[in-house]
Amino acid sequence: MTDVLADLYPAHLQVQKERTDRALAESRFDHLVVFAGTPRYQFLDDMAYPFKVNPHFKTWVPVVDNPNCWLVYTPGEAPRLVYWQPVDYWHKPAGAPSGFWTSHFDVRVIASENDAKQHFPTSGRTALVGETTESFGFDLNPEELLNALHFERARKTDYELECLRRANARAVRGHRAAERAFRNGASEYEIHLDYLRAADHTEDELPYGNIIAVNENASVLHYYLHGRQRLDPHRRHSFLIDAGASWNGYASDVTRTYSANESDEFHDLIAAMDEAQQAICDEVKPGVAYPDLHLAAHQRVANILARFDFVSLDPQAIVEKRISSTFLPHGVGHFLGLQVHDVGGFMADRSGKTIEKPEGHPYLRLTRTIEPRQVFTIEPGFYFIEPLLAELQKSDNAQYVNWPKVDAFRKFGGIRIEDDLAVTETGYENLTRNAFANA
Ligand code: GLY
Ligand code: MN
Ligand code: MN
Repeated sequence: MTDVLADLYPAHLQVQKERTDRALAESRFDHLVVFAGTPRYQFLDDMAYPFKVNPHFKTWVPVVDNPNCWLVYTPGEAPRLVYWQPVDYWHKPAGAPSGFWTSHFDVRVIASENDAKQHFPTSGRTALVGETTESFGFDLNPEELLNALHFERARKTDYELECLRRANARAVRGHRAAERAFRNGASEYEIHLDYLRAADHTEDELPYGNIIAVNENASVLHYYLHGRQRLDPHRRHSFLIDAGASWNGYASDVTRTYSANESDEFHDLIAAMDEAQQAICDEVKPGVAYPDLHLAAHQRVANILARFDFVSLDPQAIVEKRISSTFLPHGVGHFLGLQVHDVGGFMADRSGKTIEKPEGHPYLRLTRTIEPRQVFTIEPGFYFIEPLLAELQKSDNAQYVNWPKVDAFRKFGGIRIEDDLAVTETGYENLTRNAFANA
């Protein structure tokens, strides 16, 4: 059976070439050279950190685990892949390039890092993109070129959308296993291991560190610890898991929150947040300004604060007095693709002009107008965060808060529900919910 990705890839590569041709012409370059990156070593040690490939490299070729490779592109010519295959008995060298993409490249295998430059352009102006201190006389990471490429990267090709669907399906396999492990009384660490096995990932292959948070740990937005403690059923209240997966270098980013007990009010709060998250998703269509979705999330969190009697003000006043920001202190989402927080979220156009964040919302990462083929997350949250509640308690707004009720919910930590959406001509495809429905 041929892989549909093999059928979609040539058109993806064509788009990649056209975008690069235009960006090179605008910034008056004749060639593009992209460095995949090289391992970084720990201080005073010969152990490298996990290798993370340059996204400008993996957008051309789905090779994510072989450092010291180069992409050399001249408009009108087949892209050249300088492929590193050292003779090395300490490490396992990469195998020969293989897969549906290889026939599209002029592949040059090198055994030594120093051999790469033999395959570089020798005339004209060359832009070099990557993390390197040696520029070979080329223009290193020229801003005008990068701005154009970053702006365009928001529009995913069909190949990229399929990779993102698969990255979601893979994450969902992990999420299902993780929920089962939580309900069986596993520790955070054990849940993490079950996730990895079900997603068929090593830790280094994850697009970001798993957030596996039981009880009040769910109030820590980036909780990267994996506690070893198993909790008795009566001490298990809630479970938040923010975990993604990778497919050919594309990331999914998925969060679910569960209540240990179906009959408690936290269960109802999750249901209310799920309904709110779906309502925000339903506002997604071309032409909408993404910050409006962020403001809609505050409105909906404020409705819930009032409805569940956490705050005795009408929802509008809750937003105006910025009380909702205590409970939702992050942005409602961000671009997703080659990177979990994909670039270009603030760009007004390809020249690098930016669109400001709404005042009072410093953590929003996406201010662009929604267009077809964009992929972003929608991830409203509702948390009981110790330091933010302490600030609220000291403020004038403390008088409106039902503190005994808030205190009773601290043990649950919080809620986040995060889906990955691909924008269509008229609305959106929910990559995450579709994956859960088909799992
Ligand atoms: N997992 C990181 C984020 O949701 O942005
Ligand atoms: Mn996210
Ligand atoms: Mn996430």
